Amino acid sequence: MPRSPSGVHVTGWGAYAPSLKLTNAHLEQMVDTNDEWIVTRTGIRERRIAGPDETTASMAAVAGLRAIATAGLQPDDIDLIIVGTLTPDYPMPSTAALVKGAIGNKRAAAFDLGAACSGFIYGYATAHAYVAAGMAKNVLVIGAETLSRATDFTDRGTCLLFGDAAGAVVLSASDEPGGTMGIEMTTEPSGAYLIWLPAGGAARPSCDATLEAREHYMKMKGSETFKMAVRTLGSTSQASLAKAGLELEDIDLVVPHQANIRIIEGLAKSLGFPMERVFVNVDCYGNTSAASVPLALSEAVASGRVKQGDKLLLVAFGSGLTSGAITFEWTADPANAARADGIGPESVKIAPGYLEPVNPFPPALEWVRSGAASPAAAQPPTRRESHNA
Ligand code: UT7
Repeated sequence: MPRSPSGVHVTGWGAYAPSLKLTNAHLEQMVDTNDEWIVTRTGIRERRIAGPDETTASMAAVAGLRAIATAGLQPDDIDLIIVGTLTPDYPMPSTAALVKGAIGNKRAAAFDLGAACSGFIYGYATAHAYVAAGMAKNVLVIGAETLSRATDFTDRGTCLLFGDAAGAVVLSASDEPGGTMGIEMTTEPSGAYLIWLPAGGAARPSCDATLEAREHYMKMKGSETFKMAVRTLGSTSQASLAKAGLELEDIDLVVPHQANIRIIEGLAKSLGFPMERVFVNVDCYGNTSAASVPLALSEAVASGRVKQGDKLLLVAFGSGLTSGAITFEWTADPANAARADGIGPESVKIAPGYLEPVNPFPPALEWVRSGAASPAAAQPPTRRESHNA
């Protein structure tokens, strides 16, 4: 086994969000809600929705290719691909296997990781362990979700929260100073059914009865999840900092899971940390689950909020209830992001094409995609489009 490196560094980063926007004004026409309530209670103004030809794997592959390019690597330099997701393209094969094919990697091991919205943080921790043990030199860690396919657009308690996206980092072995400093992960099964997706697994295989009961969509007890989230995000952050041997004032930027602005503010308040040093983009994307932290991290770097030598704290919580936090020193040159210019959806090769006539796009959003002024003004969906209405 090769010698273990002294450091595990973020060397590459990248993200991808689909172009179609679902705004609060759209939601006002679909469920009993309004822009003012959504903005005040969640901070969300719009989310992105994957098009009919986009899947978790295709979005993950774009974010992954961007992260590999930013790291100055080629796809075949990657030894391991980990995809954190609760919306894999299929129960099997893994989305990670599809990503491997899509980015043209010939040699990596690849697997999915199920920790819901903490999936990216758990993936980072797993990748760190592989690199620190000398079992991998470069690991591609992706968080990617197509939550719009698991969202009930008749349920105002959930449909305003979620969106689609992907984000990625490359973790690399290095003998340079800096890199990962403290990792904490927790799981509290007492909250397992506060946010969950009842049907489609082995305990409740999908059937007419589960479809009728809309159990193929996410269910959530919002306010209980909220309280548990603020508590665990705070304690997990503190534990990660303690393992890093740092104090909160040493942290330059906190990049939290973007679930709700009030949860993020609650975290900052409980830690006594200023909001000016917390990165927020929940207004533009909503909650993208495992994609949330790496998408926010990429945007934080792109917007000049991260410089070499900064200490960062990434923290998330999700179904399980899982929670995880990473404290690390950023060592890469933010300008390396320019290496990913020109990489987009056309750069990846995903074309299963054998699933006709299933259209994965949510029928409830066809009117948004068509550019119609209201659901009533849109063409009625064809039979092909109404499979999961
Ligand atoms: O990655 C983890 C995923 N989950 C989360 O992060 C969710 C955490 N929870 C939340 O973000 C919040 O609990 C929600 C945004 C889901 C709900 O906000 P809340 O402040 O907890 O509202 P609530 O459920 O306590 O409802 C307050 C009021 C109720 O009316 P009454 O009973 O006070 O008259 C609701 O019926 O707001 C009403 N309400 C709405 N009104 C307009 C609930 N949903 C809506 C809505 N639009 N969409």
